[in-house]
Amino acid sequence: MSETAELKIKGKAYQLPLVEGSIGDSGLDIRKLRAESGHITLDSGFGNTGACRSAITYIDGDKGILRYRGIPIEELAVKSTFVETSYLLIHGHLPTKQELEEFSDKLRYHSLIHEDMLHFYDGYPSTAHPMAILSSMVCSLSAYYPDSLDPKDPEQVEHLIPRVLSKIRTIAAYSYKKSIGQPVIYPKNALRYCENFLYMMFAVPSEPYEVDPEVAAALNMLLILHADHEQNCSTSTVRLVGSSDANLFASIAAGICALWGPKHGGANQAVVEMLEVIRKNGGDVKAAIAAAKDRDNPFRLMGFGHRVYKNFDPRAAVIKDLCDKLLSRLNLHDPLLDIAKRLEEEALNDPYFVDRKLFPNVDFYSGVLYRALNIPVNMYTVMFSLGRLPGWIAHWKEMHQEGDGRIGRPRQIYTGETKASYVPLSERV
Ligand code: SDX
Repeated sequence: MSETAELKIKGKAYQLPLVEGSIGDSGLDIRKLRAESGHITLDSGFGNTGACRSAITYIDGDKGILRYRGIPIEELAVKSTFVETSYLLIHGHLPTKQELEEFSDKLRYHSLIHEDMLHFYDGYPSTAHPMAILSSMVCSLSAYYPDSLDPKDPEQVEHLIPRVLSKIRTIAAYSYKKSIGQPVIYPKNALRYCENFLYMMFAVPSEPYEVDPEVAAALNMLLILHADHEQNCSTSTVRLVGSSDANLFASIAAGICALWGPKHGGANQAVVEMLEVIRKNGGDVKAAIAAAKDRDNPFRLMGFGHRVYKNFDPRAAVIKDLCDKLLSRLNLHDPLLDIAKRLEEEALNDPYFVDRKLFPNVDFYSGVLYRALNIPVNMYTVMFSLGRLPGWIAHWKEMHQEGDGRIGRPRQIYTGETKASYVPLSERV
């Protein structure tokens, strides 16, 4: 019999089983609470609510720890590749040489999208945000695999995973090419994952194009750092949509839409737009800090703060270091990086941010890196999607293979009219 916590409501005691994990938060199992007590719990934003058990990623927000399948991201960022890390997250272990070769071959082999999908791009205005295109194109991929959409069939799931991992990269690159009026560049399967993406993004048919290995290495690291983050907003969306037995493409498309929000993955684009405004205002970081602290001002310091990290975000530290290294390697000087560093310095010495434990998060420096890679600002959240895709897939798969199979359906505390009658139009004032 597991240990329990006792809850008393109006003198009556209820026993709630304690649920322990291997490390980190333990929880109270409230699955019988409503049936036994008639009460539910309320936790807007789910800051205190565990949605599931998971073995994929561990975060300790107080210590700035982030581990994929137990391995610290600081190790994976420098020792692994995005493809290998994707395998680790999805399959639960580092691949053997043969497993990695087979996985890489599948990604190479499935890099093309159906030629008919190219016509979809013609329907979008050139100003369409690439996240709108990405989510609809990914959902539309389901139309080409009608016989492989059963989430309960592990074989069909394994059939789709390399396809969505490889094709989303192609869809993203094609979106960029279409937005600048250039012909799409078909993938070159002799190239590795990140190199192939950069090739599709920046090659043109009329010129030879060589991928800079340092740029590809930086992109690998960036995608690894974004690959998973336990039950964040978009991953929880993928799980919730997937819990209805919606197919993998539909669940991922929903996750892309959740990530688009500026409070979530859209923050990387918002950070660079914020830094540009500060630069235009003469680099006055103090004014930005004052605006962020002003409760009457909706302005937030984008790229700062986090629901879980109440200390530094370990990803931000690695990305900041990568910014310095890559910019000096490429002999670039980006005034936005200087502004970002001054902003960080100012905020980390300001009681408003210190008291609220607001530190730079993964999005604070990533935009500066994307600028150095010549990736346009409206593609930053698409890059976040490319990185987070293996995490979404891993959680979707874990939910179907380890979960209890129940559809996600939260309850509410109703605050509306208790009973009302229909009033004919003629009698309404
Ligand atoms: C990501 O969950 C994940 O894991 C997400 C992510 C992932 O990998 O999936 O890590 C990726 O989404 C990173 C976060 C990117 N978003 C931003 O950078 C946007 C700016 N940040 C804020 O919007 C905010 O910090 C959130 C959304 C990230 C977190 O919001 P919370 O946990 O709901 O915190 P809150 O809004 O309740 O803030 C607590 C206090 C408030 O002040 P008081 O009411 O106590 O006076 O801190 C203040 C907030 O006003 N605050 C900020 C602030 N963030 C919080 N004030 C100024 N600037 C900020 N950025």
